[in-house]
Amino acid sequence: MALRFAYIGCGFMGQKVHIPNFRAIPDVDFVALAEVRPQLGARVATRMGIPKVYASHLEVAADPTIQAVGVSAAFTQQAEIASDLLAAGKHVFMEKPMAVSVEQAERLLESSRRGGGRLMVAYMKRHDDGNRLGRATVAAWRESGEMGRITYARGHGFCGDWTNNLETPMDKTDEPYPPAPRVKPSWMPDEYVDRYLGYLQQYTHNLNLLRWFLGPTTDPGVPVGVRAVDFDDNGMTGVVVLNIGGVRAVLESGGVQHHRWDEHTQIFFERGWVQVFSPPLMARNVPATVQIYDGRRRETRETAGPWTWAFRREAEEFVKRVQSGEPFESSGEDTLHDVAAFEAIYRSWLHAKGAV
Ligand SMILES: NC(=O)c1ccc[n+]([C@@H]2O[C@H](COP(=O)([O-])OP(=O)(O)OC[C@H]3O[C@@H](n4cnc5c(N)ncnc54)[C@H](O)[C@@H]3O)[C@@H](O)[C@H]2O)c1
Repeated sequence: MALRFAYIGCGFMGQKVHIPNFRAIPDVDFVALAEVRPQLGARVATRMGIPKVYASHLEVAADPTIQAVGVSAAFTQQAEIASDLLAAGKHVFMEKPMAVSVEQAERLLESSRRGGGRLMVAYMKRHDDGNRLGRATVAAWRESGEMGRITYARGHGFCGDWTNNLETPMDKTDEPYPPAPRVKPSWMPDEYVDRYLGYLQQYTHNLNLLRWFLGPTTDPGVPVGVRAVDFDDNGMTGVVVLNIGGVRAVLESGGVQHHRWDEHTQIFFERGWVQVFSPPLMARNVPATVQIYDGRRRETRETAGPWTWAFRREAEEFVKRVQSGEPFESSGEDTLHDVAAFEAIYRSWLHAKGAV
């Protein structure tokens, strides 16, 4: 039976990515949209042929016929929305970051336990066919031992143009944007919150990907220790040294004026490496490119998977796993490690500065 699905928030990610993707899945009965800006909700629902528009996510939570819900909204808001839906027993697909503090993340997990809804955090890079090939190669080398042990891992992201000239339609109105709650780690001074949110929302992708390359595909996930943090005053440009499941890993972050997208993940073994270059996020049907180097044979293999879009794949995976009951690859329990790591990174940086 088709999954009865609703979406909350028809801003950029809703209109450009998730609503079209979920509507395209044959096993989804896309029954409703919720939007607190009523004119926007009505316009998008009409254009996309969605039968029902609700005034807020609470009305979706109260609709017993809806089984699963997608959510994308402001960084501090989306966990609050997801929490209400999980408490009402809905299965939730939510955009990253899952939460902006460990306390907010734990409230979300508590709602899931209480209400019975299951949470998948939408880390689409885990569903990119190039990243999947890269991860499978790492897993095979670890199991066989043929390439020696893992000596080092890198996540690198200097960004660039992520929208890739995506020219699909987007409805807009002049209705005011709803205020987002002021949520932050309780120990963090206010003056650092914007920098923290900027860093968290971007690099949560890269840390999550490193954890997935180096750990199991489902819970309990691999935890992260923070060894050193070196940032510019913008709280973003720099490097973080981590211990991810016993492997030394660095997270290189920054920005460069760049007409393409600069992001890669690299795992070094004693006798070779796997390196995966991400496509710009909005490039439909372009997976990551994978370079596999085998030092025994002095051989480099470069390969790209079939034409697939990570965002479409993650939506399909959510639907499949809700229906089968299989665990999600980026459950709330797994993603809690990311939230905790980002708090720890900023705590370490601010402690070294004498700011906390
Ligand atoms: N995966 C990625 O690579 C990626 C890329 C870009 C953005 N994102 C994430 O997406 C999120 C932003 O999503 P967006 O672009 O859809 O946001 P947006 O701000 O453009 O739209 C959010 C919409 O939700 C509506 N809204 C707010 N509260 C509501 C409620 N209680 N009920 C119903 N509607 C409500 C707002 O009116 C707004 O229209 C961010 O958290 C960001 O991290 C992820």
